[in-house]
Amino acid sequence: MSLQTTNPKSDEEDLLFRLLRQLDVAPEASQRATAAAVGISLGRLNAQLRAAADAGLITISDRAGPDKRQRFAYSLTARGAVEKVRLTDQFLARKLAEYDALHAELTGSASGLVPIKHRTHPMQNNLAPIPELYVSYESAQKLKVEAGDLVSWDLTPRQICDLELLMNGGFNPLKGFLTEEDYDGVVENMRLADGSLWPMPITLDVNEDFAASLEAGQDIALRDQEGVILATMTVTDNWVPNKAREAEKVFGADDDAHPAVNYLHNHAGKVYLGGPVTGIQQPVHYDFRARRDTPNELRAYFRKMGWRKVVAFQTRNPLHRAHQELTFRAAKEAQANLLIHPVVGMTKPGDVDHFTRVRCYEAVLDKYPQSTTSMSLLNLAMRMAGPREAVWHGLIRANHGCTHFIVGRDHAGPGKNSAGEDFYGPYDAQDLFRAHQEEIGIEMVDFKHMVWVQERAQYEPMDEIQDKDDVTILNISGTELRRRLAEGLEIPEWFSFPEVVTELRKTKPPRAQQGFTVFFTGFSGSGKSTIANALMVKLMEMGGRPVTLLDGDIVRKNLSSELGFSKEHRDLNIRRIGYVASEITKNGGIAICAPIAPYATTRRAVREDIEAFGAFVEVHVATSIEECERRDRKGLYKLAREGKIKEFTGISDPYDVPVDPELSLETEGTDVDNCAHQVILKLESMGLISG
Ligand code: PPS
Repeated sequence: MSLQTTNPKSDEEDLLFRLLRQLDVAPEASQRATAAAVGISLGRLNAQLRAAADAGLITISDRAGPDKRQRFAYSLTARGAVEKVRLTDQFLARKLAEYDALHAELTGSASGLVPIKHRTHPMQNNLAPIPELYVSYESAQKLKVEAGDLVSWDLTPRQICDLELLMNGGFNPLKGFLTEEDYDGVVENMRLADGSLWPMPITLDVNEDFAASLEAGQDIALRDQEGVILATMTVTDNWVPNKAREAEKVFGADDDAHPAVNYLHNHAGKVYLGGPVTGIQQPVHYDFRARRDTPNELRAYFRKMGWRKVVAFQTRNPLHRAHQELTFRAAKEAQANLLIHPVVGMTKPGDVDHFTRVRCYEAVLDKYPQSTTSMSLLNLAMRMAGPREAVWHGLIRANHGCTHFIVGRDHAGPGKNSAGEDFYGPYDAQDLFRAHQEEIGIEMVDFKHMVWVQERAQYEPMDEIQDKDDVTILNISGTELRRRLAEGLEIPEWFSFPEVVTELRKTKPPRAQQGFTVFFTGFSGSGKSTIANALMVKLMEMGGRPVTLLDGDIVRKNLSSELGFSKEHRDLNIRRIGYVASEITKNGGIAICAPIAPYATTRRAVREDIEAFGAFVEVHVATSIEECERRDRKGLYKLAREGKIKEFTGISDPYDVPVDPELSLETEGTDVDNCAHQVILKLESMGLISG
């Protein structure tokens, strides 16, 4: 049997594959050297180079240098890089078929090797390198210059996280942002169009204007927030998704109380773009550089350390003693080394910031037996999608070379829905993971709730305690821990390590020393500014923290003087106020805001920004529109009725009444001093000021 290929098309593609591969590794080699490496004559090489340039796969540039034999330099275009990946896959498939045929000829049976694309993960060596989407350093330098001329998209923080994991293989087998066909499959049944398991839509959401400006097949540059080009993308798909369906199918409910659904409807662009990505450079991180590893760096580390089995622990919270015990047990059960793999990209709004958490992890790392455990930071943007998220986390950890993965109670849970119930059952994530474990290619180590048994002075899984009635079981919930930190109360040694508590106390001083924001909202003329002024004076009289008043009128004079009252401008105005208030709150001050802020979604977005740093106290100044119009202090209602002022809140523009504010003030028949005092009492009851 002959093993030579006889198909002229595949010969041609094979030659193109060898040429692109050679130009990618040695773009500045002489033509003679390139021809020799590819195995063709100089004449044939020239014809091939011209054809590749005409097809838009490479660019040829002059190379000013003394050596006449090296007059040109070649680099792969974005399209060329994508073509190289396709041809590589094809080349490997053909080689495998040849090997199979040879095996059959020699032994009379098939080799049993499975093509790479269809190999399930367990058959793959978890320590072998996995494919990345980056081009070589030399090609990247050229591509970066070329990409400067492309239309570009400035990535959002979440898109930067997604892109990093796409490029470094963390999201293998994805080769770019999902196409419409892949997206439909993922949303409907967690599968890409080729049938591979993938539970999370990784999409490039953009605004309508940008999407409309693109042609099919156009290359675009993807930039970080400082304008650095990280990658190029060939836009093959451009479509308007059905977001309600995505919310239902992926997150379990079209309910804005779910952080990812809220993001989907209120932050993400209306249109999705899909297509392959060519990686130019990793996003730049200035923090904890030595602690960040790509999948291939971790695989190399495991190889070096001789770690054949590795159990990964995913977390977005500080580690306490219960977590340490749980991870110990998991490592013992799986007879594996342990990788603490915390998420430092984007987690649930309100979580402890990652700077504090990493300092806590470093303190806890010393408590593990040396060289059994390592810690690496994962720049993932979580979606809090419970069961689907667990499967996704498993695939990501398999890509990072881990063999086992810990899934505990309520993995990646988003909290309560708008009816006050849990979105998912506590062990739904474990069930879905178990059902797909083979395909994920990583073994689940499931854990039940760990509790402290006082008599035995140790942590034990709740479901394994036989003598529940005879022992004292202790546990501190996340909410209780936050309360104790906020109120400066004791945190017992059995619960956490003193080093961790010290770190947490540094960033979370008692509530009465933290910054916070009081956010008044209500109609024009409702009394917001007057009450806000009275409150400011009372707080200044108490002293202790700087107080800043961001009144609607003052802000419009100083910060937002160019803005009008369209929905877009009002949103911008409120987001600016929110931004300044969040900075004040972060730095330990008190911000008092008093805009109309008519839209609930914008108020919610501001709340999220601020709650990352301190309390957000929403105060609805609930004066009725009739009363405001009767008072008409500024004469604006009259003008609005006459149509001389357009889009006037309550008259010709909507106001979303706050559903669940921290405080609602009835001003009719109540004097200003009393209203301000009600706010003071509220702040006292929340522990934000001492009585
Ligand atoms: S918003 O919607 O929150 O951005 O509005 P805000 O910046 O708080 O508005 C500040 C003051 O602008 C006056 N004004 C209007 N209000 C509502 N609608 C329209 N079209 C409008 N045009 C001018 C109004 O007096 C607001 O002052 P306050 O302090 O609320 O009385």
